[in-house]
Amino acid sequence: MTANRKPRVLVTREVFDETLDYLRQHCEVFANQNDVPYAPEALAAKLTGCDGLICSLTDRVDATLLAAAPQLKAVANIAVGYNNIDVPACTARGVMATNTPGVLDDSTADLAWTLMLGAARRITEVERRVRAGEWTGWRLKQWLGVDVHHATLGIIGMGRIGQAIARRAAGFDMTVIYHNRKPVAPELERKCNAAYVSFDELLAQSDFIVLQVPYSPATHHLIGAAQLAKMKPTAILINSTRGGVVDDAALIAALKNGTIRAAGLDVYENEPKLHPDFLALDNVVLAPHVGSSTEATRKAMAMLAAKNLLAALQGGVPPNLLNPEARSGRWLNLHK
Ligand code: DGY
Repeated sequence: MTANRKPRVLVTREVFDETLDYLRQHCEVFANQNDVPYAPEALAAKLTGCDGLICSLTDRVDATLLAAAPQLKAVANIAVGYNNIDVPACTARGVMATNTPGVLDDSTADLAWTLMLGAARRITEVERRVRAGEWTGWRLKQWLGVDVHHATLGIIGMGRIGQAIARRAAGFDMTVIYHNRKPVAPELERKCNAAYVSFDELLAQSDFIVLQVPYSPATHHLIGAAQLAKMKPTAILINSTRGGVVDDAALIAALKNGTIRAAGLDVYENEPKLHPDFLALDNVVLAPHVGSSTEATRKAMAMLAAKNLLAALQGGVPPNLLNPEARSGRWLNLHK
């Protein structure tokens, strides 16, 4: 990048005006405010000559794209999950990659709770029935749900969002158990009032199971037919992390045949193309990947991505750098 030109930045999807205003103070910005996602070839073409990329989880940043953008120095994802970015491929090219942790923990935890409560009390099903005119009056045994209070909550993945979900359980007098690659620090366990158990213990003991692990080859189909069979027949499964962590076909079978009671989902394999069988099931609450979607949180995510990118392009260390190794000699030399 020559000293007398502003860095060029591509923003692949619609962002808030304040995000663009901030970027435009320092960069030449190519924005896609009409929000139609770019196909991979179109993204590669748009990225030509750009120094920075602000992308979303709908964009795949892989070795092919990076090869088409030799000038690229940094990629800022507007998401905490970054399974859409091939980080080792970025590192190999000296491209810094960043994500947006922290700013969405509480909103995403709230949504996981929305799904838990909604699935337990069948709220989308009964709402559909009310709208269809099926509610003819009060009955004692009408559309019975299950209690969330005093139940056992099992959290798989005890990172920041998992911890935020656990903390909320205190108000419902729940027993909280969790499974993680390794137990969290004792003071965090105390703060969350949560006890570490094995994966199988969690499957067997929980009334509500919330998935909060990142998606990767290691967590692909973490929950499939075998794991569903180990759950209580009354269990409710919540997935608000990433599609692919659950085998959707196996979950549909389990919901149909009563292996578990219900599910609450915000994410799916092949989203936004849901497995059609989900649509016919009453015992699943379906949300459209809105875990972090409050105005304040989405604004904070977009701004954090912009700040990460700018830090990288100005030769600094972005606050949420995923690949410190990318600040290689090759990259630093470009900024001398
Ligand atoms: C994330 O940040 O990973 C969310 O899924 C985006 O909504």
